[in-house]
Amino acid sequence: MSASVTVRAPGKVNLQLSVGPVGADGYHPLATVFQAISVDETVTATVRSDDSITVTVTPDHRGVAEADTVPVDDSNLAVRAAIALRDTYGIDAGVDLHITKGVPVAAGMAGGSADAAAALVACAQVWDLDADASSLAGIAASLGADVPFALHGGTAVGTGRGDQLTSVPCATELTWVLATQRQGLSTPAVYAEFDRVSARTDDGSGTVLVGGVPQANDALLTALSDGDIAAVGGLLANDLQQAALTLAPHLTDVFDAARRVEVVGVMVSGSGPTVAALASSRDHAAEVADYLRSVRVADRVLIAAGPAPGARLV
Ligand code: C5P
Repeated sequence: MSASVTVRAPGKVNLQLSVGPVGADGYHPLATVFQAISVDETVTATVRSDDSITVTVTPDHRGVAEADTVPVDDSNLAVRAAIALRDTYGIDAGVDLHITKGVPVAAGMAGGSADAAAALVACAQVWDLDADASSLAGIAASLGADVPFALHGGTAVGTGRGDQLTSVPCATELTWVLATQRQGLSTPAVYAEFDRVSARTDDGSGTVLVGGVPQANDALLTALSDGDIAAVGGLLANDLQQAALTLAPHLTDVFDAARRVEVVGVMVSGSGPTVAALASSRDHAAEVADYLRSVRVADRVLIAAGPAPGARLV
């Protein structure tokens, strides 16, 4: 048993986020295409001699994440992951968790989910548990809809709550320019705004539903497997985008600016407020990022590449 291990897990963007009508459990059926990207959360787990579980959080070297806004009590997703793992295996071990945040907080990029995924892998290792991928995935799904994808990584279709994953091929690197805001958006609030608009219009989204369930866009999957960046850019679609723009109207300035520098595609990432612009190359991404910084439409601008691997030991 190692006394201490470090695990890295990725943030994500959703290239497609199609949302069906809310179910009795309060969750919405999704068809989403996730891509893991090269902004990471890092969790170091150090085994304790008692049964306490502690967590500390610091920003990574880029300083893009508001680490001081993350809770350090039992509501922290990494702590919840450690407790869920311990309960599943019926042990009473303790651990000190240290999170180094590289994913902006409440940004629509699943940073908290990445913490949970990294904590599951790290604790399984330091507690010497014989936990295979499918049992970790089951615990991950109980922690949040995006946690299984942070374990999985790569590019994948998510159905159900977004937690039922099927890998899909992506034949090229995609370079994303991420315009982030210090003031985050609450995911439940964005879904509630989506519900409000959908209730008025029957279907707020325009999403194709089969038996009330949204479907992954085959044209997008083909563009990804062909490595056709221009086609991918034209097919980006997020049903939560209008709700995020209603709650954070200043984001339209980011869209206008991104379009002025002719990005390949642009969308709100997940439930926002991050706006993700797809560039045609790394050089183009650097130009787009410089421009977005110069017009001051975002608090920070990052460049990230996808697909990136899921939670892994470092
Ligand atoms: O699963 P997670 O805790 O990340 O979800 C946060 C919130 O997002 C949920 O409480 C719910 O309001 C909303 N959500 C949803 N449908 C999904 C995923 C999330 O309504 N498929």
